[in-house]
Amino acid sequence: MELPFAESWKIKMIEPIRKSTREERETWINEAKNNVFQLKSEQVYIDLITDSGTGAMSDRQWSAMMLGDESYAGASSYYNMKDMITRITGFDYVLPTHQGRAAENVLFSCLIKEGDVCPGNSHFDTTKGHIESRGAIALDCTIDEAKNTQLEIPFKGNVDIKKLEAALKEYGDRIPFIIVTITNNTCGGQPVSMANLRETRILANKYGKRIIFDSARFAENAYFIKTREKGFEKRTIKEICLEIFSYADAMTMSAKKDAIVNMGGFIATNLKEWYDAAKVKGIAYEGFTTYGGMNGRDMNALAIGLDENTEFDNLESRIKQVEYLGKKLDEYGIPYQRPAGGHAIFVDATKVLTHVPREQFPAQTLTVELYLEAGIRGCEIGYILADRDPITRENRFDGLDLLRLAIPRRVYTDNHMNVVAAALKNIYNRRESITKGLKIVWEADLLRHFTVELKKVE
Ligand SMILES: Cc1ncc(COP(=O)(O)O)c(C=O)c1O
Repeated sequence: MELPFAESWKIKMIEPIRKSTREERETWINEAKNNVFQLKSEQVYIDLITDSGTGAMSDRQWSAMMLGDESYAGASSYYNMKDMITRITGFDYVLPTHQGRAAENVLFSCLIKEGDVCPGNSHFDTTKGHIESRGAIALDCTIDEAKNTQLEIPFKGNVDIKKLEAALKEYGDRIPFIIVTITNNTCGGQPVSMANLRETRILANKYGKRIIFDSARFAENAYFIKTREKGFEKRTIKEICLEIFSYADAMTMSAKKDAIVNMGGFIATNLKEWYDAAKVKGIAYEGFTTYGGMNGRDMNALAIGLDENTEFDNLESRIKQVEYLGKKLDEYGIPYQRPAGGHAIFVDATKVLTHVPREQFPAQTLTVELYLEAGIRGCEIGYILADRDPITRENRFDGLDLLRLAIPRRVYTDNHMNVVAAALKNIYNRRESITKGLKIVWEADLLRHFTVELKKVE
């Protein structure tokens, strides 16, 4: 008999979690104004709001933390981190930041001016925020297939090369760089193929443009290249990573994902002029060039985390769990962005809550329903997250409206996934009876989903 799959690690430390009653949850979600970001963590049973900074570190990472060098300048921890980043990405200049959006803030401060256009594949919300807040446009050039959640193709996160070329022709000098997000979070944790990265590079060279990779989940992207793209089966994840980054001029990184640390990020590049400009902004916004908002101990843990998570077994354990949840939803007929992504399952809320009009935010409504059903916290990646159009100030309904169930790395077991799937099944069974959604009573101008206040439509 073939042996079944099991994780490549065992558990050494646990953290209790607590169930609640439906009555308690009703009170809490009311107090939170129907925004799950406003819940306290002890009001949540299974927390799938994000996989960012919520992973479980390994014994090697914890022990490296004890050796953290907290020197203001020139800490050995910085060099441990830098050497690992250089080994994995090939980039020599490394500037730490306290998290991914800080890396965007520092680098974009040097590169973007008002009126610019930054084409890419479904920019993440903070990336879009840092572009739009500078009076520039985040132009989405993702392939159209990404919008059909039921279509099963291996690299649904790809850049549409034709759309990108049209943008390069139309906007010319207004384009400071192209940004490619690997994996593509907003369209469902979907990977970008090596062929697509290569083609993007060729096009960028033709038009004399630079490329930045938003690399939060680059190791998961490398796993999909190894397992789905012809010619990469025998290459190690680390070899694949080196080829991936050979097509970029720089990377911004939220280390809270694929480096499995609770806090941290960085910019890495081989362009000395970009590094020199960014280090000045970095000192002002984040701190000196060898710590940039990070503790020495965290930089040590980051180095080990990157090393561990660019190994096949670790990635396989993680991605198989996401797949497992996807298969449970298949059993119950619940539609999600197919195939299962790298870090999360994205339930297609418009196909579940078909009676809730888009103006009443189906994905946010489903997020609240799931919390009420079983204390499970997901996250809306949909019409609320899309913010308003910066020019017309209208809601943007042209993208997907998804409930993201992001799975923290090395934290929950498949039994927890069974609970999540069963809770969704209960909602799916009574979906016809859910006809009313939510309306916004207060919102911020930018990144509104974190603080938005909502009310049930009567
Ligand atoms: C693709 C992507 N880019 C950037 C970020 C921002 O990173 P951080 O949350 O560390 O600021 C995130 C966070 O979720 C992300 O998923």
